[in-house]
Amino acid sequence: MSDFKEKNIDYKQYVVDSQLRYFKPHATKVEKSFAEEITSSLNQNSKFINPKFFYDKKGSDLFESICLLPEYYPTRTEISILKKLGHDLLLYLDEKINLVELGSGASVKTRLILDIFTKLQPKTEYFPIDISEILTESSEQLLEDYDTLHITGIIDTYEGGLEFLKTYDDKKNLILFLGSSFGNFTPDVGKLFLEKIFFTMNTGDLFLIGLDLVKDKTLLESAYDDSQGITAKFNLNVLSRINDELDADFNLNNFSHYSVYNEIDQRIEMNLKSLVSQSVIIAKCNLSLNFNKDELIHTEFSHKYHVPQIEKLLNDVGFQIKQMWLDDKEYFSLTLVSKN
Ligand SMILES: C[S@@+](CC[C@H](N)C(=O)[O-])C[C@H]1O[C@@H](n2cnc3c(N)ncnc32)[C@H](O)[C@@H]1O
Repeated sequence: MSDFKEKNIDYKQYVVDSQLRYFKPHATKVEKSFAEEITSSLNQNSKFINPKFFYDKKGSDLFESICLLPEYYPTRTEISILKKLGHDLLLYLDEKINLVELGSGASVKTRLILDIFTKLQPKTEYFPIDISEILTESSEQLLEDYDTLHITGIIDTYEGGLEFLKTYDDKKNLILFLGSSFGNFTPDVGKLFLEKIFFTMNTGDLFLIGLDLVKDKTLLESAYDDSQGITAKFNLNVLSRINDELDADFNLNNFSHYSVYNEIDQRIEMNLKSLVSQSVIIAKCNLSLNFNKDELIHTEFSHKYHVPQIEKLLNDVGFQIKQMWLDDKEYFSLTLVSKN
């Protein structure tokens, strides 16, 4: 495995064995930034919590349960597209290409890409980047099934992980960003994020992005408010996390999951609604909050796109679109772009 060009002193390295190592920022830095971000985002007239904080261990497990729900079409639809793009994708790959993944989660979809890489290469290098500790578990599971795989995981934000990879070797990369996670960004922030990816890439690198498409409102709303209440649990879990890690006293019975599709902005808007007028203390943030009855804490956007909007977005950043794949019902898209 190649060495990093510079020492990443902000990260601690954990070497599990010759095929698996991962890097994590120091725990004090992570705790400090969680407390700082929560302090700032809840101390506003329009309160919000960044969706990246959903993913503690329990949140990541709940997300995996969401992926299996009958209402949650994105996962199975994206998998159906990944299953059929193998032959096309091979045309763009070669023996000397690394696989990088933003928000790798349980790395379930990754397996469909790894099946192609491991057939093409005697040794495959995979760099999952995920804010959740789930990365260690999923990496170990991958290594049970792919014996020529070498994994360097980065347990950090997308931005931190991309910066980190700049210090890695100059081998060509295919960067994956699946699950329509990009849809969590507002259009302005999303454009800046794509530019960050673009400027991290070297000429010849590839980027494969999965984006959810505009569709019937009822279908969209039930995908984010399922009949078994798993999405509600996932949403409310962020308050449990704040209670546990920041010493807060949110009473989960006093909040409910509230999710709607905004047709004008083409996005699911997920919130937590305060069911009563109440006060909450977050001790580690030195914060005392007041909520009115029906006041919302915004927790997630999930933007949906029309195909021409995706093309414009990627072209405007400077990417060259190589190919786009849709499923038969045209629910979901995967787009492969390059930096020329
Ligand atoms: C919606 S899940 C998608 C997981 C998987 N890629 C899929 O398509 O099923 C988002 C994943 O990205 C991670 N994540 C969310 N926000 C992040 C951020 N800002 N930086 C790094 N990882 C993030 C989460 O921990 C989670 O594993």
